[in-house]
Amino acid sequence: MKTPELPPFDHQPVKYSGPSADEVLRLRKQFLNPGIFMYYKKPLMMVEGKMQYVWDETGRRYLDALGGIVTVSVGHCHPGVVEAARRQNELLQHSTTIYLQPNIAEYAQKLAEKMPGDLKVCYFVNSGSEANDLALLMARAYTGNYDVIALRNAYHGGNALTMGLTSHRTWKFNVPHSFGVHHAITPDPYRGLWGRDDAHAGNKYAADVQNLIDFATSGQVAAFIAESIQGVGGCVVFPDGYLKNAYEHVRAAGGICIADEVQAGFGRTGTHYWGFETQGVIPDIVTMAKGIGNGCPLGAVVTTPKIAATLAARTHFNTFGGNPVVCAQGKAVLEVIDREKLQQNSLTIGNHLLAGLNDLKQKHNIIGDVRGKGLMLGIELVKDRTSKEPAKEECAQILESCKEMGLLLGKGGLWGQTIRFSPPMCVNIADADFLLEVLDHALARL
Ligand SMILES: Cc1ncc(COP(=O)(O)O)c(C=O)c1O
Repeated sequence: MKTPELPPFDHQPVKYSGPSADEVLRLRKQFLNPGIFMYYKKPLMMVEGKMQYVWDETGRRYLDALGGIVTVSVGHCHPGVVEAARRQNELLQHSTTIYLQPNIAEYAQKLAEKMPGDLKVCYFVNSGSEANDLALLMARAYTGNYDVIALRNAYHGGNALTMGLTSHRTWKFNVPHSFGVHHAITPDPYRGLWGRDDAHAGNKYAADVQNLIDFATSGQVAAFIAESIQGVGGCVVFPDGYLKNAYEHVRAAGGICIADEVQAGFGRTGTHYWGFETQGVIPDIVTMAKGIGNGCPLGAVVTTPKIAATLAARTHFNTFGGNPVVCAQGKAVLEVIDREKLQQNSLTIGNHLLAGLNDLKQKHNIIGDVRGKGLMLGIELVKDRTSKEPAKEECAQILESCKEMGLLLGKGGLWGQTIRFSPPMCVNIADADFLLEVLDHALARL
């Protein structure tokens, strides 16, 4: 079999002259916490990025089909984003919210304009974990209630509070956490009780939220939080009607609804700007990070004026949240998504990829499920389609083979059994065909 070739791309990487990958690995082992993990048996060192591609220290190019980790929304070092950050870096790098600064105010207005309903007030933070932590604080302060319902198979962060929301043993340390958090069953049409052939699956899964309210809480809850599509959990797309029904149960119990758009937002699902819109709901709080800044440390909590007002009961401060440089970058990202019609591109390329992945499923029995929306896609690998035993080792092997052929992918799911595709939204058809061809080769090598 001839190894697939990357589509041509007009960019000459700078000749790398820094420390070798071995030296960087040595420094990392000695001076960085061993808890921070790496992909690949022979770790990849990235030294340059341009749009959908990255280069290693030898000048070898890769298609970044994981998009950082769903962080690079509009393209590595997108010229519009780089220029906005450069201009602001030269003018004023740092200021906090104790002074007036135009960027944070203008950016908040632009972001609010993208939101439906009454979701018009922003609070900027530095990460997704911080955003979810703050959203929970607001929900509890606003409702006067304590209990929170999250979903199994969720990932909402790794700090003390969000580790409690996150629901995979892999990410949970054996320390006290999760106070007041209850996890409803995952509305997973592939592994769950009700599949895609059940038109009422959304309803049925949402009934577990009501069940938790009745049997695990006082009957009054502070919040329900869910990713609009579960990312780290392996690109799990909920059945139609799930969020609508779950939101109804939660609101009837005095709670508010939080949508975690850290991965699914900013046009990635293709059909909609926000992932929750694919379920026909409007949340009370939306949390964002990753793609919001195309890779810079920026997160946001957007909510209604009424909910936002509860934070004024005390003083709340975040030193770096909404600093002038990240706000300039975030504003540029919003502009690029619109100007370059990247939501539409996510739909076009995403549908092309989805069709190609479904074709691969016909050919390779190890693919148990193909799913996702736009450029948030996944394939779940199983040793056997009936038992659905997770094909964990094979998944890792596929990632290694694809890397050897110049394609970077992600994995997800409790057992690391799902391959994830979330490239920068600027990818084209030639990239998608390259991805499918490489994947086909890697599957054939198993
Ligand atoms: C859906 C979701 N929410 C929250 C987070 C946490 O974001 P961060 O790593 O920026 O704290 C992540 C990170 O992967 C995520 O995928």
